[in-house]
Amino acid sequence: MPSSLMLSLAFWASGALAQQSVWGQCGGIGWNGPTSCASGSCCVTQNPWYSQCLPGNSCGGGGSGPASTSTRTTAAQITTTTTTTVATPSSPVPAGSLQQVSNFGTNPTSIQMFIYVPVKVAQNPAIIVALHPCGGSAQQFYGSMKLSSYADSNGFIVIYPQTTQYSNCWDVNNPGSLTHGGSGDATGIISMINFTLSKFNGNKDKVFVMGASSGAMMTNVMVGSYPDVFEAGASYSGVAFACLAGSTTPPTPMGSNQTCAQGLQHTPEQWAAYVRNAYPGYSGKRPRMQVIHGLADTLVRPQCGYEQLKQWSAVLGLTNTNNGTNPAAGSQYNQINYGDGSKLVGYFGQGVGHYAPPNEPVMLKFFGLI
Ligand SMILES: *[C@@H]1O[C@H](CO)[C@@H](O)[C@H](O)[C@H]1NC(C)=O
Ligand SMILES: *[C@@H]1O[C@H](CO)[C@@H](O)[C@H](O)[C@H]1NC(C)=O
Ligand SMILES: *[C@@H]1O[C@H](CO)[C@@H](O)[C@H](O)[C@H]1NC(C)=O
Repeated sequence: MPSSLMLSLAFWASGALAQQSVWGQCGGIGWNGPTSCASGSCCVTQNPWYSQCLPGNSCGGGGSGPASTSTRTTAAQITTTTTTTVATPSSPVPAGSLQQVSNFGTNPTSIQMFIYVPVKVAQNPAIIVALHPCGGSAQQFYGSMKLSSYADSNGFIVIYPQTTQYSNCWDVNNPGSLTHGGSGDATGIISMINFTLSKFNGNKDKVFVMGASSGAMMTNVMVGSYPDVFEAGASYSGVAFACLAGSTTPPTPMGSNQTCAQGLQHTPEQWAAYVRNAYPGYSGKRPRMQVIHGLADTLVRPQCGYEQLKQWSAVLGLTNTNNGTNPAAGSQYNQINYGDGSKLVGYFGQGVGHYAPPNEPVMLKFFGLI
């Protein structure tokens, strides 16, 4: 472990009394770090899971005002159905509710596996991996979407991986996750997919990944490092594959290194080279991508959405031929099509902040599942 990482872990562990620096996290469900901000910035609630120290006048108190403190939201304020059953490969996974699974395979970063298997599971079911945002959890992400209802009517299975490290953010800066066959959160997620494919006779040609915020960043990591595993991905307010490569600070969008989240730009070919170098020699099919971003996102800038489109357009060899709208996406979203839009499409929402709420029908249609 690099010493800088150990230092920041130590800092985070003892951080409750310290003041958070500008751009740092200062509150949200599960957050145990500082809740007051350095002078000249103040704590702004972005969503129940994430509050951030923003500089200047952004919280109305004046740029040079005293440090402010947020109210800490506790997990108990969110209604959840607690899962108690832990299934192992030798015992059946109960259907129709979110269940934790242990012993699912190689898991170098000790992440957790949760799964939703519908009561009427399809013969050869498709599998969707759903990755929670920073500060989130499997239970929170499951509860925040209607994906399980669609699983009930369509018979697919949803895997909800969970990390409790780095304020529950995925290790999107970890070279191990940014490399095919490397060691990181990505490995544990691939193990969950392998486990589900074999246990439920899953369809390996219909494995998908989606996520929001940190989960969207990880979606890009998964399709980049494991193009052989995924048919398609959907990224809600994420960043391009390897956008955080080279960052040694914890891989949170609100860590001290904001270079990526504030809109790091590369050429399409430079972005594509990161993807190709993650799995040298791979010449097979590449996953299709749907990129959704809010144009009013100040946490992970809209440019990060455009950078994803640049990356995947170069990887997939597609160009932006036309734009349009999609009534199902909502009138605030414009649609950017690459090729005929079936392999790469972007949706950018006017007035939409962080993170753009997942739209199950539009995503599942793109995946070819409804
Ligand atoms: C997942 O399964 C594939 C295909 O069987 C295998 O090559 C790979 O090593 C497995 N990965 C993990 C992390 O278990
Ligand atoms: C910050 O992150 C960028 C990539 O997002 C990286 O190139 C840069 O080296 C990082 N800086 C530090 C100080 O870690
Ligand atoms: C589609 O929209 C994007 C973003 O607004 C723009 O940059 C691009 O030129 C548009 N493409 C076409 C073909 O009009």
